[in-house]
Amino acid sequence: MKLSISKNAHFPTQIVFLTKESAAGVPDFAAKKNDTTVRYEGKKAVIYCGLGEKEAVSGGVVRSAAAAGVRKALELKRGDVSIVAPQVGRRSGDCWAPALEGIVLGGYKFTKYKTDKECALSSVELVGDGISQRSAGRVLFIGECVNFSRDLVNENAHIAHPDFIAQQARFIAKNGGMTAEVLAEKEIEKKGLRLLAAVGRGSEYPPRLVCIEYRGNPGSKDKTALVGKGITFDSGGQNLKPTGHIETMRCDMAGSAAVLGVMKALGVLRPRINVVGVCVLAHNAIGEHAYFPGDVYTSYSGKSVEIISTDAEGRLVLADAVSYCKDAYRPSRIIDLATLTGGILTSLGTTTAGLFSNDDDLAGRLFAAGEESGERLWRFPLYEEYAETMKSDIADLRNVSTLAKGYASSITGATFIQEFVDKTPWAHLDIAGTAFNEEKARGEVPQFATGFGVRLLLKFLGAE
Ligand code: BES
Ligand code: ZN
Ligand code: ZN
Repeated sequence: MKLSISKNAHFPTQIVFLTKESAAGVPDFAAKKNDTTVRYEGKKAVIYCGLGEKEAVSGGVVRSAAAAGVRKALELKRGDVSIVAPQVGRRSGDCWAPALEGIVLGGYKFTKYKTDKECALSSVELVGDGISQRSAGRVLFIGECVNFSRDLVNENAHIAHPDFIAQQARFIAKNGGMTAEVLAEKEIEKKGLRLLAAVGRGSEYPPRLVCIEYRGNPGSKDKTALVGKGITFDSGGQNLKPTGHIETMRCDMAGSAAVLGVMKALGVLRPRINVVGVCVLAHNAIGEHAYFPGDVYTSYSGKSVEIISTDAEGRLVLADAVSYCKDAYRPSRIIDLATLTGGILTSLGTTTAGLFSNDDDLAGRLFAAGEESGERLWRFPLYEEYAETMKSDIADLRNVSTLAKGYASSITGATFIQEFVDKTPWAHLDIAGTAFNEEKARGEVPQFATGFGVRLLLKFLGAE
């Protein structure tokens, strides 16, 4: 997508924002939030985007309205748009960033498998004062990193398999001047990541563990580890998922895809921080070689785990990834992102991700980044009583709690991961509800993969 900045609009399609107070000049348009209307002046189409009441306009409102506006333009088959920076702040410059963000995120559609390719966004002209090419370019690039993450998740599971994602990671590392360590199945066994090996055993696409290291501040020991669940397809394994639950399970690597989106961004934005991005990749398949319920495996950390359900595989691979990453990279804090539990959908729906942490400061900073980025988080408790329910009679831990009917499944899932973290400040983000949108697009959230987490983490890291 081409980006230009100008003082006047040149394209015949223009996106203009209106608050309720400023909409009087456009008849029959109340400028409600996310409403759009089109007015034609010859070949020129002006797409008005409603922002609601002036008092209540925030960056999030502008982002969402811009996304609705660009979708309207694409529906009209207009891929070159001028976007007039909204005048709601003290200066027009105040709101151009969320507007541009909304355009890039809202203009995304996964059309690879459509014969009729529909209209794609090709050029954006940003109209306003005081906007620098450099800062606009950074906003655009972050949006493209989110879209990269979305593409990875949307791709067929037999294409986006563990080795494919490892190759993508290598490519990102190489382009960003970062190092990439890739453990293939033999090294995974040899180094004792037996939980990861077990989960990956049923598939012809073997598991991988990828660690990319970005060192933007070599003088500092501070380092954040981002660990993404990367189950390239979650069939449930021997505990096979039923129809109605299995169809979207290519989304189960969305944590890894978000981590790669962040690493791709860091390689270009180059902030003065140190980050290690970890993707723990496996295909949870059913078949004669797949691991069995009732089996006991010893993890990389030495703790043994009784497999109650082969469908609670995310916590198994994350346990090994977190302990390996701690040993090999000594991070100051660990943040994992995982489409971990269906329970988080019941608790929070599709707009907010679950936050679990052993550190109030880290949790507070993540929460704040969520509010600012619009990728919201809500914290759950990790009381000792929950840990009691993860104890096994035959091993140290069981991978599903003893609580009946899946009660508190998101918390007990997080509790399992916590057992492998020890004292390192850690936060777990359960993105099972926010990573994949089965409904139609809303605001900057498209149908299918959403890229949730990329903007949140870049905000948290102070990298934008
Ligand atoms: N990948 C699923 C969780 C999931 C559900 C992701 C819906 C996206 C949408 C995970 O591996 C899983 O199957 N979790 C089980 C755990 C249970 C067996 C303890 C669940 O939440 O039902
Ligand atoms: Zn599962
Ligand atoms: Zn899963």
